[in-house]
Amino acid sequence: MKQRTFTMLKPDALKRRLTGEILSRFEKRGIKVIAAKTLMISEDLAKTHYGEHSDKPFFGDLVSYITSGPVFAMVLEGDDVITQVRKMVGATNPKEADVGTIRGDYAIDTGRNIVHASDSEESAKREIGLFFDESEFCDYVLPDENIIYEEP
Ligand code: RTP
Ligand code: MG
Repeated sequence: MKQRTFTMLKPDALKRRLTGEILSRFEKRGIKVIAAKTLMISEDLAKTHYGEHSDKPFFGDLVSYITSGPVFAMVLEGDDVITQVRKMVGATNPKEADVGTIRGDYAIDTGRNIVHASDSEESAKREIGLFFDESEFCDYVLPDENIIYEEP
């Protein structure tokens, strides 16, 4: 089933010039980028985005981390894309993330795990709405969709 998810490269990914390399993994898988932008997240947006963690001991550090530089926010579209992107991202703690996942290949600390991805349909809808306006979505067909998908 075609879905949309919200994915965000965290400031350490941009500072380490990994944006293109990580974006390329999604593109090569056949996942469609329908919106993307680089932005600085305000403290308010960071606290809202990660609101579910507001009572956790790491919340302050998480907000500082995510507002410490620009992020690269994306809306990705594809079949079962919420689950598939979470699998590509890997475990929250990069030391436990499988080799071949983004965190398993590029990160080492939980507090510097370089990428965020929505974990459910509900959070994808909420997070997309926090970062993007409907007018920013690009509705287009990739020329190889009938090769990527058995039934496009
Ligand atoms: P994300 O939301 O960023 O995609 O990460 P996630 O679902 O894999 O993990 P989540 O439990 O939602 O945690 C959000 C982010 O908070 C930081 N964190 N630090 N020090 C800690 O114990 C700890 N636990 C989580 C990480 O940056 C994590 O991605
Ligand atoms: Mg999460």
